[in-house]
Formats: sequence, structure tokens, C-alpha cells
Amino acid sequence: MTMITPDPTPDRLTRVPGLLYGGDWNPEQWPEEVWAEDVKLMAEAGVNLVTIGVFSWARLQPDAHSWDFGWLDRLLDLLHGHGVAVDLATATASPPAWLVRAHPELLPVTADGVRLEFGSRQHYCPSSPAYRQAAVRLTRALAERYHDHPALALWHIHNEYGDHVQECFCAESAADFRRWLRERHGTVEELNRSWGTAFWSQRYNSFDQIEPPRTAPGPVNPTQVLDWRRFCSDALLALHRAEKAVLDDVSPGVPVTTNFMSMLKALDYWEWSRHEDLVSDDAYPDPADPRAHVNAAMNYDLMRSLKGGQPWLLMEQAPSAVSWRPVNLPKRPGLHRLWSLQALARGADGVLHFQWRASVAGAEKFHSAMLPHRGTTARGWRETVALGAELRRLGELAGSRLRARAAVLLDWDSWWALELDDHPSARMRWPELLRPWYAALHARGITVDFLPPTGPYDGYRLLLAPNLYLLDTATAERLTGFVRAGGHLVCGPFSGIADRHDHVHPGGHPGPLRELLGLVVDEHWPIPDGATTAVRLGDAHLRAEHWSEWIETEGAETLARYTSGELAGLPAVTRHRQGRGSAWYLSCHLGTDVGRVLDLPLAEAGLGPELPGLPEGVEATRRRAADGTEYLFLLNHGPAERRVPLERPGTELLTGTATGEGLTLAPLGAAVLRLPATEERP
Ligand code: GLA
Repeated sequence: MTMITPDPTPDRLTRVPGLLYGGDWNPEQWPEEVWAEDVKLMAEAGVNLVTIGVFSWARLQPDAHSWDFGWLDRLLDLLHGHGVAVDLATATASPPAWLVRAHPELLPVTADGVRLEFGSRQHYCPSSPAYRQAAVRLTRALAERYHDHPALALWHIHNEYGDHVQECFCAESAADFRRWLRERHGTVEELNRSWGTAFWSQRYNSFDQIEPPRTAPGPVNPTQVLDWRRFCSDALLALHRAEKAVLDDVSPGVPVTTNFMSMLKALDYWEWSRHEDLVSDDAYPDPADPRAHVNAAMNYDLMRSLKGGQPWLLMEQAPSAVSWRPVNLPKRPGLHRLWSLQALARGADGVLHFQWRASVAGAEKFHSAMLPHRGTTARGWRETVALGAELRRLGELAGSRLRARAAVLLDWDSWWALELDDHPSARMRWPELLRPWYAALHARGITVDFLPPTGPYDGYRLLLAPNLYLLDTATAERLTGFVRAGGHLVCGPFSGIADRHDHVHPGGHPGPLRELLGLVVDEHWPIPDGATTAVRLGDAHLRAEHWSEWIETEGAETLARYTSGELAGLPAVTRHRQGRGSAWYLSCHLGTDVGRVLDLPLAEAGLGPELPGLPEGVEATRRRAADGTEYLFLLNHGPAERRVPLERPGTELLTGTATGEGLTLAPLGAAVLRLPATEERP
């Protein structure tokens, strides 16, 4: 009888077992003799996946009539022979000179009408038929040639959509925009209604009269700009989908990804991730920023959330310094290891890099690499080898998942609309509103997911909405249902303002949230730059900056009041009990003080840190395998040694030692504990 062994890692990203380790390799920069050394060193470092071909278009297709695949055939065979799998790029991010000169119209145009030149990368108009046809043709040629190559483990579409070019204002883009608008609005009358063109004499008689929001004498119609943002995300997505369709057709069964750019305003990643087999991200936290790990944690939580908690892949990070900041600090010893483990701690099943071997020519020759210019005597190389060895020790955690009981609501439409011009204050920017909320949760050791405002909310006790400027009535009703059924919602200021056309909800702010929050906003009261307004919460003195609101309660309790300025005595923070839950409102931007307020709903929702007694500066997360085994990550981001109390004995996987009631983490130290399955934590 044949025993069927269940796949121990049913959730794994690719067919490569364990955690993925490697990076972009651009071997066309060197003679083939160097490749032999490269693959030998890859084996030494434990590399099991490399990304090939990201910028190889000009090499693969030297002119309109010829292909050159010989070098790539040899390369893939060489890698396969050395046990290294391949993430094969479709090579479409940098169209070659011959294509650009044959189709100069494919170069992108700025809002001011400047056509950008060849000589960098990503020089294409997202709506250009010539670019799209050539990109799809190249993708098909690669897919047909390599779909059954044994080295192939993953397809890598394009590279960082939206990195350099997020929009194009040329005639082809204008035509594509008009097509998109027709699809969205149906009739020009409907578009006129949606854009509010009755104001400022902006009425259109036909779609043909509409242009992209190019540089104009004054503020451009805000709904036109909002539709433009939606269109630009969709236009790039259409390119991605065209390549994905080819790969799905010719190379079924091989997963496909494109590398995201963390929390990028230009692309609606909720929509994009529906077209990914797995989510991958490029992350470049700044070693000069002592709080960089908090921002990184936030981005990683988003990446994990984009496909509902599925493991994701850190596709690119720098082994040490980058070369594109004005001043590029290297990572001090141990920092790269810690930050790599942080990605795993937040759900990644692999860490890859830009790039394998440091370039000697071109724009990125001062960017760090897994194999630095100095070669195998460099500190960087020793760290590359050491990290590879550690990832092998952690292989068993591939496929395990985090679980959060709190989620932050993120909506790209609302982000775009919030940051349109001519608002009460230009200081209301989504990242600045979000960051202090996230930092407060991070400091308290609370794991959060991200979620679109539409949900699904199952399994969450607390929803956090630092801002929901744009909110439709149906979503507000869903949120109301969540609260009435026992959930808790915390909503930040300037929320519930506009519908999806960016028209203000009539009847007073916060529009469709007014009943749920039990209050009405009489007037927005921005705070001038540099000034603050005092807020009193119990015994605590907090400071509001940038934004406050004159609110009047309609059933909500007042928990904190303004104690200085024009609004002194008026409510600042409120709670409205509804059904079995509660809805909280923060009418001001509290910056780093926001945690004092968030403590209240956290307590009400019964949410505490991943590990009780977690010392300051130590990040803790928990991944759980399907069989209930837990992996507790402990990461010391601080400059001092820290003692961490442990709940129960386990095994520390990096050292292979048994742990007792606590452990000590050196500065930048890390531990990954395997803890046997236990009763589900509440
Ligand atoms: C991005 C790109 C890479 C490289 C790195 C440098 O992630 O995808 O090609 O330019 O930045 O940090």
C-alpha cells in the first residue's frame, strides 16, 4: 500500500522547499566565466532562488527582427545544475533603444508636456499600444521557450510598476482615459454630474472634449483628478494583466508575481493583488532612520494582508547601502540580519535582494550587493553567507501564518481623494495620519492587519480608521453592522466627508457615519503649522496638531476635551455605544499622543501585546503552522541589551537551544522560538 505523506508546507510560495533566499542577478554585465564563480558562491551562501532577466530586453531582442536566447538557455541550465531555482522576469521594464526610436510616441509625457527621453529605465507610456504589443510579444517568447524549464519556479512580471513613471499625459493616454471614462460613466451627462461641471463652467458636450488633468491655470476639477488617479492605476494594471494572461496561458501552474513598492499611493494594491498569485514587495528601510523598522513593519503587514494573510515574498532589499538617497548609509553589522528576520516575523517566506553581484558600471554601481566589489573577503559577503545559513535553520516555518484581531482600514480611493487640492488643510496626508496610529500599536506589541473598508471583518474585534475621507453609505452601513454586533471602530478626523464622486455628503459631517458615531461636525478647524491645541483625556495632557474640529455630540459620550484655543471646552474624543460594540471618534490629529487614546478601545476590545511584559524596543510576533506549532519572533531593535520573559519552554531555532523562563537579547539581537501547539489563544 502506498502511504501518502501530506505536503508539510501546503502554503508554500513556489515549489522550492523552505524559505527563499537570493536576489536579482544581472549576469549579462559579465563574461560567462564569471557566472561559474557566481553559481559556486551561491551554493556557498545557500541561495535557492535568483531573479533573472529584469533588465535584459535589449540583450534578448537585439533588434526588431532577432532574438538571442542562447545566453539565457546556458544560464538557466547552469543554475539548474547547481540547484538554484529561477524567478524569471518578463524583462519588460526597460524597452530597448531600437524600439523607442521606431516608436518615439511610446516615451512618456509629463503634465507640462515634456516628453521624457530614453537613457534611464521605465521610459514608456502605460497606454502605448506599441509598448504593450512589444511587451506582450517578449513575454510570450520567454514563456514559450522556458515554461517547462526545470529551473523555473516563479514568473516575475516587469519590475516595480509605478517606480519612475506613474502617469503619462500624451495623446494616446488621453484617448485611453476617454475610453476608461466612457466605461465608467456611460454618458457624458453622467460624467458632468459626477465631476460637478456645473461649477466654473466646465460642462462637456462630448467625451472628445475631455483631456487628462494637464497643467492648467488654476486648480483642476477634483473629480477629474480623482478619476485620473483611478485610471492611471488601472492603465498600469492593464499592462500587467496583459502579460499575466500570456503566462497563465503558456505556463500554467507556475506562480506569477510582480514586485510591489510597499505602501505606494499610485497603485491600488487591493485591486492589483487580485491579479497576483503571490504578493512580493521591495523594501528599502533607511539605516539612518532609527524608527525605520516601524515603518517597515507597517509595510510588511500590508503585504501580508493583501492576499488575506498568505505568506508573501520580500523580493528586494539592500544588503547594506542603497545608492539613490542623497546620503546612503550602510547597515551596521547585524542590522541586515535583524531586518531580514523582521520580514519573516511579519509573514514573509523568503528574503531576496537587489542584487547578487555588485555592478561595476551603470547607475547602480554604488548600491550594495550580496557579493560586494571587494569579493569574498568583504564583511558583506560574510553576512550573506551567515544569513543564508540561518534561513536554512528556519525553513520549517514556511507556510505558517500570523493572526491579528485588529485591522487598519485602508482605501486607495479615499487616500487619493483626501490628498486632492483645496481642502481645509494640505497637512492631512494619509501616511502622516496613519503612521502615529501604527507606531502606537507597534509599540504596544499588537499585531494588526490591513483591510479594505468593505471588509470582510470576520475574526476582527477592532477596526482602526485613521482617516476615511471618502466613504459610501453602503460601507458605512457595514461598519455600523460590525459595531452593533459587538465590534469596536475607531475613526479619525475628516472622515465620512465625500461620496465616490468626491461630492460632500449632505446633512453635515461625518455624513453616513453621523448616526454610528453619535455626533455632528459643525466646522473643520485646522491648526496652523507649528502650533498645537491642548487636549485633556482624564489626567493626561495631550497635544493636537494640524487638525481639530468643532463637534457637537448627538448621543456620544465625551472622553476628552479641547482645553486651549477657540475650541476649549468642546469634545475632542468621543465614544458612542451602539448595540454590543462601540464607535470612537478622534476629531483631531494627535500625532505621537494618539496611543493614549487608542489604549481605551484596545482595552475594551480585550487586545493586548503578543507577549506580556515585552520590553521597550523589542518587537514580538507569532506565526502559527497548520498543526498549531507556534513560532515566536523576538527582535531587539534598540541599542541596549533586553531581557524578555517567556510564557513557556520552547526551542530557539537560530541556536538550536532549549529556552526556559526568559532570554536575553543583545542590541540588534533576535530569537525565533518554536513553541509546541497549545490551546488556541483567545
Ligand atoms: C528597485 C529596483 C531595482 C534597483 C533597486 C535599488 O527596487 O527594482 O532594480 O534599482 O531599487 O535599490
